[in-house]
Amino acid sequence: MIRYLSSGESHGPELLGIIEGLPAGLAVTEDAINVDLFRRQQGYGRGGRMAIEKDTARIVSGVRWGRTLGSPVGLVVENRDWANWNEKMSADPAHVGALKAVTRPRPGHADLTGMLKYGHSDVRDVLERSSARETAMRVAVGAVAKALLAEFGIRVMGWVTEIGGVAAGEFTGKAAALYKKAEASRVRCPDEGASMNMMEAIDRAKADGDSLGGVFQVTVAGCPPGLGSYAQRDRTLDGLLAGAMMSIQAMKGVEVGMGFAVARVPGSAVHDEIFYSKAKGYYRKTNNAGGIEGGMSNGSDIVIRVAMKPIPTLYRPLQSVDVTDKKPFKASVERSDSCAVPAAAVVGEAVAAFVIAQAMTEKFGGDCVVDMKAAYDAYMERVREF
Ligand SMILES: Cc1cc2nc3c(=O)[nH]c(=O)nc-3n(C[C@H](O)[C@H](O)[C@H](O)COP(=O)(O)O)c2cc1C
Repeated sequence: MIRYLSSGESHGPELLGIIEGLPAGLAVTEDAINVDLFRRQQGYGRGGRMAIEKDTARIVSGVRWGRTLGSPVGLVVENRDWANWNEKMSADPAHVGALKAVTRPRPGHADLTGMLKYGHSDVRDVLERSSARETAMRVAVGAVAKALLAEFGIRVMGWVTEIGGVAAGEFTGKAAALYKKAEASRVRCPDEGASMNMMEAIDRAKADGDSLGGVFQVTVAGCPPGLGSYAQRDRTLDGLLAGAMMSIQAMKGVEVGMGFAVARVPGSAVHDEIFYSKAKGYYRKTNNAGGIEGGMSNGSDIVIRVAMKPIPTLYRPLQSVDVTDKKPFKASVERSDSCAVPAAAVVGEAVAAFVIAQAMTEKFGGDCVVDMKAAYDAYMERVREF
């Protein structure tokens, strides 16, 4: 099964990623990764940092002449601001004291608990890694996972459904068409009218020194039935996807399919009935389950919605305490996003893509793409004839 690790501080020289267990023969290019890195940096409501960082990925191992070798794939995303930080974030003890310690933990961040846990006296030693800058590498890794999924006709598409209480209308139609509309929206929402209202809400919050959260949806189309498992509950696909989504900075809730709404209506309004036709095989007319039953993909689109809390760094400062003199203060801000839900949707795509790619390699083997495809084709043939 594929796995990855990342490292890198927000103002360090670079972010590093290593993906291990990718099948050999997969087409992977820096250009394809850069498309998603660019998408992560877009979105109405982003702050000054996005103007500084123009992220691009460098593939440093595991790929030769555009194809994976089966060896670990190494990725590097440089932090463009490093020139201003090389002494302040240096690994060399000669530079101790090059930057004044931050002693005022910000509410809503890892700052205070991170200091307690790791014994740091400088908030910077926490925030440099807890920052969502880390999601740039996750998006790069996710782009590689998407390349694997594309070999099997699987698409992962994210869009925004709600910002600061402004919700898009009910969506109908195919995910691919909604995704196309979302790509054209500055808040990544397929509903044009709602997009305008969301941008106005962001403007109002910004003028007020405040920030907004929201909800995004990730749809995975083209999954075969049977990814994940009911047999051991730590292998359930919904459990793995929900865990991955919750690991994204600032995510506070995950729904699959109807989600929390299932708790409020009778079973007859929830469960998707099963039909069969020679042309389609087994199919369902509804998808309240969000494509997952019994911890396994059932062949319908996988639909996940994720709630993001408002950005905790506010231009209207929040109360906290200085850890040196224990005196109260109001947290000051230099630059921050006021809404990052559109970017979070791109991060959500990446983490979902990685979980699905893991499940695909678990089910169909992963030494080379050709073997994986043969196993996939044989399985799909058996499923069709069942
Ligand atoms: C794409 C993205 C961008 C973010 N940008 C900011 C930001 O500019 N300022 C900020 O204070 N928090 C930002 N956050 C949120 C914080 O990283 C997050 O609230 C913090 O790490 C606490 O995480 P927790 O709520 O999961 O505990 C961003 C999150 C994401 C996913």
